[in-house]
Amino acid sequence: KCEDKTITYEAVKAIADNILSRIKVKPVIGIICGSGLGSLTEAITNAQNIDYKDIPGFPVSTVPGHAGRLVIGMLEGLPVLAMQGRFHYYEGYPLVKCSLPVRVMKVMGIEYLMVTNAAGGINPTYKVGDIMLIRDHINFVGFSGNSPLRGPNDDRLGPRFPPMTDAYNPALITRALSVAKEMGIPDVVKVGTYCFLGGPNYETIAECKMLHTCGVDAVGMSTAHEVVVAQHCGLKVFAFSLITNKSSLDYEKKEYANHAEVVAVGKSRESTCRELMCRMIKSIAAE
Ligand code: ADE
Repeated sequence: KCEDKTITYEAVKAIADNILSRIKVKPVIGIICGSGLGSLTEAITNAQNIDYKDIPGFPVSTVPGHAGRLVIGMLEGLPVLAMQGRFHYYEGYPLVKCSLPVRVMKVMGIEYLMVTNAAGGINPTYKVGDIMLIRDHINFVGFSGNSPLRGPNDDRLGPRFPPMTDAYNPALITRALSVAKEMGIPDVVKVGTYCFLGGPNYETIAECKMLHTCGVDAVGMSTAHEVVVAQHCGLKVFAFSLITNKSSLDYEKKEYANHAEVVAVGKSRESTCRELMCRMIKSIAAE
């Protein structure tokens, strides 16, 4: 008998129906806000808020800097559903539960998933405050089979063996580079590979050196499992990392990553991140 309990399609549908019955618009874009980037939701008009704790079957987030609610309304002419606060593996949830909201979005009829996160810069050319458009990921947590897709597959949610080529929609990356030029921030915006580690501790210097050798540009504790599920169920994904600290590659430098710094850099760059997100949604609305 299979040891992993999956969350059934019926359970996902019940959550989707519960949310749909309470909101005035039918969202086409889902947004997951990273640490310190929750104020993206302030741009949403006619907003309706639903706390995670008031959605039967929904997990509840436990991290400071993550509010724990859905914000549903209009952004740049499109109906959106934003998650202010996500679920991390290190909080103790299995990955299938961390990424449950992505499946709920799909069953609600959402077509695009926009993801943000705070990340450590591994690429030595990156600076604190840079924005890295995610072109690809290395899912370290998944290497040994720890996947949100583990367990019986329900074909109504997606195929047993989904490809991960172009998991991050290339056309949306190209568009974001044009948007960065329009915003006058082409030097701040990079394109790179994100690596998902389990956390909650930050990386050792040896780990950073190894990740650098492996072609990683930025490292964090989220996103990849959400994108695996999004790709499984056929959502178009756009994601970016805000580089909130430089991961140390040097024993002499005595740099210590900390959560307060991550949240503070998020706050200092949130208007830029918000504008990038809004302009991306505007360009999707114009399609
Ligand atoms: N989030 C922000 N900075 C990080 C880092 N250096 N490692 C992992 N997650 C992070």
